[in-house]
Amino acid sequence: MATEKKNIILTADRPTGRLHLGHYVGSLMRRVELQNSGRFDQINIMIADDQALTDNADNPGKIRDNIIQVMLDYLSVGIDPEKTTVCVQSALPALHALTFYFLNLVTTARLSRNPTVKAEIQMRGFADEGLPAGFFTYPVSQTADITAFDATVVPVGEDQLPMLEQAREIVEKFNRIYGETLVLPEAMIPENATQRRLPGVDGRAKMSKSLGNCIYLSDSPKTVKQQVNGKMFTDPQHLRIEDPGHIEGNVVFTYLDAFCRPEHFAAYLPEYACLDEMKAHYRRGGLGDGTCKKFLIRVLEEYLAPLREARARWEKDIDTVYDILLAGTKVARERTNATLARVQKAMRIDYFADRAVVREWESLLRQTKN
Ligand code: TRP
Repeated sequence: MATEKKNIILTADRPTGRLHLGHYVGSLMRRVELQNSGRFDQINIMIADDQALTDNADNPGKIRDNIIQVMLDYLSVGIDPEKTTVCVQSALPALHALTFYFLNLVTTARLSRNPTVKAEIQMRGFADEGLPAGFFTYPVSQTADITAFDATVVPVGEDQLPMLEQAREIVEKFNRIYGETLVLPEAMIPENATQRRLPGVDGRAKMSKSLGNCIYLSDSPKTVKQQVNGKMFTDPQHLRIEDPGHIEGNVVFTYLDAFCRPEHFAAYLPEYACLDEMKAHYRRGGLGDGTCKKFLIRVLEEYLAPLREARARWEKDIDTVYDILLAGTKVARERTNATLARVQKAMRIDYFADRAVVREWESLLRQTKN
């Protein structure tokens, strides 16, 4: 039997780089809210280093370096180790075992249909070079992550919906074959479009390290300024200040939509009461991009300055950060081991849980003699 139904969150990130503003609006802010809401019995965040290795097998050093970067990003945004268990995937062997069993419950045809994995295969050039089996099957390992924690709620970006669908199918199949054992998880995706995908500063759909269009949470004020002033895309037709401007596709306004609040106007741009007024002026003409960018930088700094300060404090005490991660991983190991034991019992492969199987085997042998 599955344990009594609790509200449990599990979510994770691949440690392949520092976290950026896209992560912040898309997931980190929400995680902190959920953490502080008191609505959940248990919250787990996992640094998915094993999953990151599925397309970085030749570069484990990168993953190792980014575990601390991601952990510092978590702590600086307000993930509180008293309320949230933060753990490292590779130190949870139950996940590997679960993955191995779940692999038998999916077909390669089903895995091939996963649209996110399909797109990633294209992006990474695996279609030509050859596709690592571990990468191809990572949605199965992700199912192990989710089910190992008995997660009911999995906050993720939209691109992860196919993973959740896959996980639910595996859970249903497992429970059908072996009896009600695993908890059926649900995805929780960001409410509005800006949260779902903050574009890069260059207006491309996604922030990506290789495109150099990110603003990292740990960037210096100087770098933030350079990214906004030097790279941020506005309205190409808005040549002179007096010209009417467009808001649609204008990245400065997309970012303001995501970040600015009425109190920012009072503090930094009191000629407007709210973003709608500012937009109206921009559309009419007479509001320059420079003014908009300067305001945006101030707004971003309202968020980034405290994160930077918190990060600087944690960076002085990496021993403590290590201890937090170790403690969280120990708790996670107990949780995931308990699920593995339940799974092995359901599958009747729990030979060494006790000696019950000895009596069974004895009676079997007695019967086969008759
Ligand atoms: N694939 C997820 C991503 O790239 C990371 C991840 C790994 C994850 N395991 C997970 C997300 C379990 C949610 C649940 O963002």
